[in-house]
Amino acid sequence: MSEGELGGRPMIETRDVTKVYADGKVRALDGVDLSVEPGEFVSITGPSGCGKSTLLGLLAALDVPTSGTIRVGSYDLQHLRDANRFRRQEVGLVFQFHNLLPRLSVLRNVEIAMMGSQRPRAERSRRALGLLDDVGIVGLADRRPPQLSGGERQRVAVARALANDPSVLFADEPTGSLDSSSVATVLGLFEKLRSDRGVTIVLVSHDDAVAATADRIIHMLDGRIVAP
Ligand SMILES: Nc1ncnc2c1ncn2[C@@H]1O[C@H](COP(=O)(O)OP(=O)(O)O)[C@@H](O)[C@H]1O
Ligand SMILES: [Mg+2]
Repeated sequence: MSEGELGGRPMIETRDVTKVYADGKVRALDGVDLSVEPGEFVSITGPSGCGKSTLLGLLAALDVPTSGTIRVGSYDLQHLRDANRFRRQEVGLVFQFHNLLPRLSVLRNVEIAMMGSQRPRAERSRRALGLLDDVGIVGLADRRPPQLSGGERQRVAVARALANDPSVLFADEPTGSLDSSSVATVLGLFEKLRSDRGVTIVLVSHDDAVAATADRIIHMLDGRIVAP
């Protein structure tokens, strides 16, 4: 998805999105209008329970809204036929807990993200090594995740998220379980991704200092965007 294909439109656009969870009691999102430009790095912040993860999950098509519309790149998510394909092609995901497979090497963890793609095996390996180099841990390619520090694991998770060259990277509390020096490293990596690759980044964090590294900070409260 290039800027040209978007025809000047934002990369992400939501209109009046609500999410009421199945028991009908929790209105997790209550009319969210959000717009993110291509190549923008935005953070979404607000207290625990305000709906940040819910919103990110909807943007990544991990769940569907109760009402409203969401467009990511050229995809109208309400008309999505194949959510897996959308996620594989357009979206990179990074979570607080990296969800790496502990018994596979670092290299394999990145390679398997490309299993559904058309790339031949040798190219998947080459690309995975290149990504590990980009995130500064190519020397650890043969280790397994339990043999890494928290910050190193999160770098693997970022490399994996980039494996299919996504146009958007969604990160939910990606620094939530890291010590302060690893936090700085991972945030520096996001900055670099944005400037080197032009990836659009949406970072969710309840931590003001982390959120402040983005170009723009969106504040949420009780399922709504309250500022700016
Ligand atoms: N699967 C779910 N079922 C029911 N309620 C949920 C579910 N996920 C989240 N919630 C509720 O929705 C609200 C928003 O949650 P969440 O989006 O996780 O907030 P945040 O990420 O900002 O902490 C909270 O009240 C939470 O308890
Ligand atoms: Mg959350």
